[in-house]
Amino acid sequence: MKIAVIGTGYVGLVTGTCLAETGNNVICVDIVEEKVNKMKAGQLPIYEPGLDVLFHRNIAQNRLSFTTNLAEGIKDAQIIFMALPTPPGGDGAADLSYILGAAKDIAKLIIEYKVIVNKSTVPVGTADKVAAVFAANTNVEVDVVSNPEFLREGVAVDDFMKPDRVVIGTTSEKAKKLMGELYAPYVRQGNPIYYMDERSSELTKYAANSFLATKITFMNEIANLCEIVGADVDMVRKGIGSDDRIGKRFLFPGIGYGGSCFPKDVQALEKAAVEHQYDFKILKAVMDVNEKQKTVLTEKVLKYFKGDLKGKKFALWGLAFKPETDDIREAPALYIIDDLLAAGAEVTVFDPEAIGNVKALVGDKINYANDQYEALEGADALLIATEWSVFRNPDFEKMDEVLKSKVVFDGRNLFDLQKMIDLGYYYNSIGRKIIS
Ligand code: UDX
Repeated sequence: MKIAVIGTGYVGLVTGTCLAETGNNVICVDIVEEKVNKMKAGQLPIYEPGLDVLFHRNIAQNRLSFTTNLAEGIKDAQIIFMALPTPPGGDGAADLSYILGAAKDIAKLIIEYKVIVNKSTVPVGTADKVAAVFAANTNVEVDVVSNPEFLREGVAVDDFMKPDRVVIGTTSEKAKKLMGELYAPYVRQGNPIYYMDERSSELTKYAANSFLATKITFMNEIANLCEIVGADVDMVRKGIGSDDRIGKRFLFPGIGYGGSCFPKDVQALEKAAVEHQYDFKILKAVMDVNEKQKTVLTEKVLKYFKGDLKGKKFALWGLAFKPETDDIREAPALYIIDDLLAAGAEVTVFDPEAIGNVKALVGDKINYANDQYEALEGADALLIATEWSVFRNPDFEKMDEVLKSKVVFDGRNLFDLQKMIDLGYYYNSIGRKIIS
């Protein structure tokens, strides 16, 4: 099939590349010329495991190309994916201006039937709004389809190539048939394609992310309670997770969820509910608790140092909002850095992928180490904010040599408590007893 993907952000690029991988001809369109030139030259603008192989292969085999010219990009496309940003507007509701603007531009260019697919996370009713933009700007027939993505950063290629499910929101039989054919190779293993109306599909995406954010938040509160009552959240997690109805995944407490999706989507769903005069109480609580959770590690540090961090040196391992990505959007580590600096501390950071992004944002207010051990040199304590595999089994002897004090505040529960006792560390993690 001939496909156009408008927007080459994270979602657009993964979608375009993975659609080319099953033999489709994909043109990706973006307005940023520099980015398009780089991609034409074979440079991938994001870090995502496994994407580079597919990206280069499909460019080499002429199935994946890039342009800044919208007319050229959509001319032959049967299906046009819109993967454009929907950032929170001033009031927290999703800002649809990119999507509606692109819809208008596309409407003015098309001369034959197209399926227009909303891949971005958009509030309920957006498909209708997009359809209205087309109706106002062209007489050409289009079908507007909602097709939310459920890609996790770090495993996005796998999530796209072997999705748990594909959700296609359209009431048009013609669009349903085309979309079904497009996705057939991805669900060969027997996972379902759910066809539904546009509004149910749009809400499915928000409901999925908000549910997952709620699940994490619930565990964070259980962890906080564990600390107070002297229980171990790891035990509680295992104890409840083996119940199939609860499930083992997404029960790991930490220092709050971050990333480009959960914070934005929970907020947008709550706003959408308000717009429809519905008071979605649980989402308000989730947002409140998550804000607070981002400060628990710094609070532990402050308590340990009796409120005085002036002149203290801290090493911070992990900057990305989660492992296997260089993405620092809404990353808890950024809040920790801010809090430590505000308290007068010195901070040295290390992350396997995200240092460049943090440098661009934070600059020389903090120090950047070349490896995880260099970050520890002369530090009064180590803080861990992201559970990169390389942090899970460090060389403790090497750590002991460079750390000023054997003190670790772990926001991701990476280490075994008994091991930390044996090694003689002060070890303060989330929802578990403090080793001192
Ligand atoms: C999420 C959804 O999982 C994906 O389906 C959707 O399409 C986009 O948003 P992503 O933002 O890549 O994906 O990250 P995810 O792996 O879901 O993690 C989100 C946040 O939750 C991270 O900050 C992570 O650290 C946190 N998290 C996750 C926990 O704190 N505990 C857990 O058990 C799981």
